[in-house]
Amino acid sequence: MKTDGGSDAAKRRAGERAAEAVEDGMVVGLGTGSTTAYAIEAIGRAVDDGLEVRGIPTSYQSRRLAIDVGIPLTALDEVDAVDLAIDGADQVAGGDLIKGGGAAHAREKLVDSAADRFLVVADPSKLVDRLERPVPVEVLPDARPVVERRVRDAGGEPHLRAAERKDGPVVTDNGNLVLDCAFGEIDDPGDLSARLSAIPGVVEHGLFVDLADATYVGTTDGVDVHRY
Ligand code: A5P
Repeated sequence: MKTDGGSDAAKRRAGERAAEAVEDGMVVGLGTGSTTAYAIEAIGRAVDDGLEVRGIPTSYQSRRLAIDVGIPLTALDEVDAVDLAIDGADQVAGGDLIKGGGAAHAREKLVDSAADRFLVVADPSKLVDRLERPVPVEVLPDARPVVERRVRDAGGEPHLRAAERKDGPVVTDNGNLVLDCAFGEIDDPGDLSARLSAIPGVVEHGLFVDLADATYVGTTDGVDVHRY
């Protein structure tokens, strides 16, 4: 369930400004989505100009783009630390996020949370006072009915995400299914995050609570940076 709207110019400004935080020698987490793509392309141009970095992709999409623009790649089991991660979001409330519109949130959370600094890139259409989009929950295929019951017990309504140009469900890069779970306005993202994480069969969910170090929001004529 990708978000609609958001200007490409604003996404580009956010992505390119965040890419300026990448320094020589860094290991950089490469998020997924249309906003982060601008950051990855900017890092690729900097690599062409001599910047030495290694990227850790969070999805098939970001891996392919990083290869196309010439960013050398590595993996979490080949590095001691991740210096910086740049990633998009579907909804942003202060430093808390809902991610997973592109079904990449499991690897995104792994890489973003491993980074010393996690920069979120977004356009203003993503900003809200309170998170309220359905929360993407990646589940082992066999676990779907069990997880659906547990989500309902927690006050949510799960919907199996359907593929758009394939019959049947979305299958993630990890071979799992995605339940988009509607909870309405989320009063306590930390509590809901813990409850979802505790359900057996849940691989990962798209609530990112207290993980972001800064948000870069592209505007009509600049970038608003908020640090946490
Ligand atoms: C991928 O699963 C998501 O978490 C993306 O990071 C999120 O959907 C942001 O994508 P856009 O920048 O394309 O809106």
